[in-house]
Amino acid sequence: MLFGRTTLSKFVIEQTRGQHSDMGALLIDVAAAVKSISALVGKGALSGFSGSAEATNVQGEEQKKIDVLANEAILRHCEWGGQLAGMASEELDAPYAIPAAYPRGRYLLVFDPLDGSSNSDVNVSVGTIFSILHRAEAGDAESSDFLRPGTEQLAAGYAIYGPATMLVLTVGTGTHAFTLDRESGNFILTHPDIRVPEATREFAINTSNERFWEPPVQRYVSECKAGKTGIREADFNMRWIASMVAEVHRILMRGGIFMYPKDNKDPAKPGRLRLLYEANPMAMLIEQAGGAASTGRGRILEVAPEKLHQRVPVILGSREEVERLERYHYEYDTGADRPYASPLFAERSLFRD
Ligand code: F6P
Ligand code: MN
Repeated sequence: MLFGRTTLSKFVIEQTRGQHSDMGALLIDVAAAVKSISALVGKGALSGFSGSAEATNVQGEEQKKIDVLANEAILRHCEWGGQLAGMASEELDAPYAIPAAYPRGRYLLVFDPLDGSSNSDVNVSVGTIFSILHRAEAGDAESSDFLRPGTEQLAAGYAIYGPATMLVLTVGTGTHAFTLDRESGNFILTHPDIRVPEATREFAINTSNERFWEPPVQRYVSECKAGKTGIREADFNMRWIASMVAEVHRILMRGGIFMYPKDNKDPAKPGRLRLLYEANPMAMLIEQAGGAASTGRGRILEVAPEKLHQRVPVILGSREEVERLERYHYEYDTGADRPYASPLFAERSLFRD
């Protein structure tokens, strides 16, 4: 079929007709920004923008030239349309105020312009993650307007710049993926209504942090590694790309579990990933696809944000495995995984003399 396939524009116009039609226009601008970033990232070393920008962002991470450009692309493509009250980005300390020349709207756009950017210089997949929230009225957003739980997201998505560029989107009616046709410049709906398989035998975690993890995560991973001879009685596979977008994309396509759990590497950071523009949008996409997303001790989407760049533990993917990890956290917190540590079994207990 040459013509008549569903483009991203057609999809969002149909899905947001009525109450949120101006959000549809915003999503079309986000897609335009994604196409610009895709073109830039796709040039690889030929772009002349490899390497460091000789600066650090508010998180203390080294900024790459390409991070700064991707951030600019989103600001410029989305600031003018009159749908936004403000934007917040991983690369900006404070929220971005809409320039005086443009009208204001009631939506808030929060984004990680180039996730996994340490991979960009080595030609491994990177991505853009975004989330749309809203305030009651059109106007200029304040920092506190962004501090809304993920359950209030109206839309969330990511673009993956891989062998093909894809945009994966939810507006609360399932998770749908569009593939960029580089010749026509259109995003075409290629994967409607994605479902994450409930069971999986594939996990993703940076095991170099093993000694810093909490016991429930150590327990889970050691059981997976024990394979057929262990209590799971099955061999597991492991993957780690160090690009959350690529990891989540693989899980949406074929199942799996992704973990960046709480660790005690740096007590000031309760996790690595940021709640508002990494964890929340991915959690919404995964839940809308039938998977689950948890901190280990509760649903990510219900975490009440206190700060714009707040970090959070992330465990997401196939439902059965996420639920198992939640159970392991519960058993650890209540002591149920250490029956012999209970007072009944302690030295001088009822059962010893
Ligand atoms: O944005 C954070 C990020 O780059 C994610 O894309 C990725 O999952 C993670 O960090 C990789 O962390 P590490 O370098 O510890 O493997
Ligand atoms: Mn990131």
